[in-house]
Amino acid sequence: MKLLIINGPNLNQLGKRDPAIYGNETLDQINQFLQESNPGLDLEFYQSNHEGAIIDFLQEKASTCQGIVINPGALTHYSFSLRDAIEVCPVPVIEVHLSNIYKRESFRHTSITAPESKGIISGFGKYGYQMAIEAFKNNRVG
Ligand code: DQA
Repeated sequence: MKLLIINGPNLNQLGKRDPAIYGNETLDQINQFLQESNPGLDLEFYQSNHEGAIIDFLQEKASTCQGIVINPGALTHYSFSLRDAIEVCPVPVIEVHLSNIYKRESFRHTSITAPESKGIISGFGKYGYQMAIEAFKNNRVG
């Protein structure tokens, strides 16, 4: 099974960005954790700070995999174009947030993208990505 693991703007700054909220690990360390936790799974990792680049990646790669795990970062809260790109993905998409977005500032309480996703996991740090992967592995994503 092949899955895309996509991270949006500023998530390349993990490790130095708000450690009290996002923890001390870098995105590379999180991705390595996911790779090691899922031997035999084909995980393709992608991060960009650019909305259009993420949309290009989805358009190019969505048909090459069985599922997508995406943390859109702040694009979650305002990107109608990312929402539209997720809507037409031919495979299920799970939205993940490291932090519990509903516990934070009110502008983070709305996810523009979540209605196009199969589901959303928020507030479990790096384990949120693993939970999403487990859902795909266990055929819980219809
Ligand atoms: C985030 C939450 C967003 O509100 C924020 O803009 C991020 C990270 C999270 O993983 O908790 O960049 O998606």
